[in-house]
Amino acid sequence: MQILTTAAELRDFTEAARRAGQRLGLVPTMGALHAGHLQLVAAARAACDAVVATVFVNPTQFNNPDDFRLYPRLPRADTDLLAAAGCTAAFLPSTEEMYPQPTVLRFDFGALEQVMEGAQRPGHFNGVATVVSKLFHLARPHRAYFGQKDWQQVAIVRQLVADLSFDLEVVAFPTVREADGLAMSSRNRRLSPAARAAAPRLHEALAAAAARVRQGVPPAQVRAAAEAFLRQTPEIEPEYFAVADAHTLQPLAAYAPGRAVVLCLAAHLGGVRLIDNVVVDAA
Ligand code: PAJ
Repeated sequence: MQILTTAAELRDFTEAARRAGQRLGLVPTMGALHAGHLQLVAAARAACDAVVATVFVNPTQFNNPDDFRLYPRLPRADTDLLAAAGCTAAFLPSTEEMYPQPTVLRFDFGALEQVMEGAQRPGHFNGVATVVSKLFHLARPHRAYFGQKDWQQVAIVRQLVADLSFDLEVVAFPTVREADGLAMSSRNRRLSPAARAAAPRLHEALAAAAARVRQGVPPAQVRAAAEAFLRQTPEIEPEYFAVADAHTLQPLAAYAPGRAVVLCLAAHLGGVRLIDNVVVDAA
């Protein structure tokens, strides 16, 4: 596996692959890799001739300086995992390499980012769209791989690709979970033992809410029950629980036939902010 650190190296490497007639898959990450990330690499390997994974803790998408400072950084372990997973190249740029100058361009995704993560983390999706656009321009992949763990991020990236005519296919894969249901996340490493023990309650809340949605319990009641359930656990401080249309992401007052529902939450567990979601097919 090649290790690339400069934008020019990434551009040259991917250009050579394309010229050789290879189909190129891109897996953008912020590192501290786990099975959720590696699932994306495996899927890219299966469908593409060359796979580039990127590892960059993107400062412009963090709205909380402590979250950025404390975000786990494990480049040695990450490159070992990527090599073992069969990546063709790993791109680990410095901040200066990705941002030789501060960006001025600002993205506005309208209603898509006025809810959930976009509403709670001002500027977050601007930073995501900025870095993803840069990676798409540098690597020009045929396919780019994302996880449904970040459901709203996938919607934003799809909008970005459509609006800016990026010539690539966005592929999304389901959330990989620990045996107890906790969604894998790089931030899980930061959970205290007590917070880690409480963390599976997040997925329990989503699973119970999904069952209620399937029974036709109205969205407001589903939400109230989930928030009440989460508040029973002192280690968990819920930030939001949303019952939304899975495609527009707008909160639902009532269900619509044939429209999938996404249940999304964010919660704080002893200073660590986690998100999770489940999608419920419409009845
Ligand atoms: P990061 O949180 O490292 O996630 C990288 C990719 O892995 C994302 O597409 C994310 O949705 C996916 N992923 C994370 N945990 C997952 C899980 N448990 N199951 C399935 N997929 C999972 O998301 C980002 O980085 C950044 O915002 C990025 C897109 C790289 C831009 O900086």
